[in-house]
Amino acid sequence: MGERGETCERRFLAPFRGDVLDVPPIWLMRQAGRYLPEYRATRAEAGDFLSLCYTPKLAAEVTLQPIRRYGFDAAILFSDILVVPDALGQRVRFVEGEGPRLDPIRSVDGLAQLDVAKAVGKFDIVAETVARLRQDLPRETALIGFCGAPWTVATYMVQGQGSADQAEARLWAYRDPEGFQALIDVLIAASVDYLDRQVKAGADCLQIFDTWAGSLPDDEFDRWVVAPTRAIREAIGDLHPDIPVIGFPRGAGATAVWYVTETGVDGVGCDTATPPFVMSEAFDEEDVVVQGNLDPLLLVAGGARLDERVDEILDLMRNKRFIFNLGHGIVPQTPPENVARLVARVRGGG
Ligand code: CP3
Repeated sequence: MGERGETCERRFLAPFRGDVLDVPPIWLMRQAGRYLPEYRATRAEAGDFLSLCYTPKLAAEVTLQPIRRYGFDAAILFSDILVVPDALGQRVRFVEGEGPRLDPIRSVDGLAQLDVAKAVGKFDIVAETVARLRQDLPRETALIGFCGAPWTVATYMVQGQGSADQAEARLWAYRDPEGFQALIDVLIAASVDYLDRQVKAGADCLQIFDTWAGSLPDDEFDRWVVAPTRAIREAIGDLHPDIPVIGFPRGAGATAVWYVTETGVDGVGCDTATPPFVMSEAFDEEDVVVQGNLDPLLLVAGGARLDERVDEILDLMRNKRFIFNLGHGIVPQTPPENVARLVARVRGGG
């Protein structure tokens, strides 16, 4: 069980309680990963990527690595959004240098192989990682649990791999909306169960990654991005009223405001392309914490331009309930010293 009584010591959570901090909390998407030599060593020890996700000792270790180096205000559970389809019974593997490969599900017939009850075994392994982390993390470090949003997870399940346009999922949704809804409903149920177990094991906050939210026109966005996220938000709210939920509707643009109003998320992750006025003003009427949005490639480039941009974002978001992050995940070619430079700059020492 988590040490819930001590969450007030975790400054990461302060913006969700309504506080504006002089120095915003900072964590980075994909803060554990291949840019760190210690990650590559643990990854080699685990063998394949999913074994790393399903070995609590090793998954906890890679979660802690960036905390030891940089002292981020929050750790994010090391796992993957594709753990959910894997746990449900779809075959998932990660091919070196190519990314995820799944045996695609293209119609309702394929849903028979998915079983929420069967997923529990693997969800509990991930929950064990969370419980270990709550023991091993510094008391002041918050722990973020996560899942992929049903739409984004479905795009991989239907396509069988990553794609530029998520065409197969979009086509299924147009041709057979009821059948596609059945897939989304399985993912909603599984995601709620998965997140519930993460919170019970000690997660302080949850993030829902909707990487491909930007690929849908308005009515489809409402049905496949907004509605499932609201369903998860409401179910988690009933189970754990004090746990903040951050949505990351990547590519949603100005529609992100609608997404916040309609889903009821407590925080919104802004992607790299979100314009400054949207970050600083568009959410003013919403009761929401804004998170983002430094370009991960600027963290590769480093130098004076990195410092300038960090300062611009800090100035823009001063006096707001804000969490510093990237606009998408850290990329493998990021020099670790640039991350140290960023953290020092945000905290006023760089
Ligand atoms: O942020 C963190 O540090 C926590 C761990 C985390 C990973 N993936 C580890 C990972 C999180 C939160 C994710 C989320 C995730 N996974 C998303 C949503 C966010 C985003 O980046 O858009 C998506 C779309 C995935 C699916 C996924 N996992 C892909 C497409 C790939 C291959 C691409 C790549 O970078 O290799 C992965 C693999 C993956 N997930 C790695 C890591 C560290 C690299 C795998 C390795 O070590 O070989």
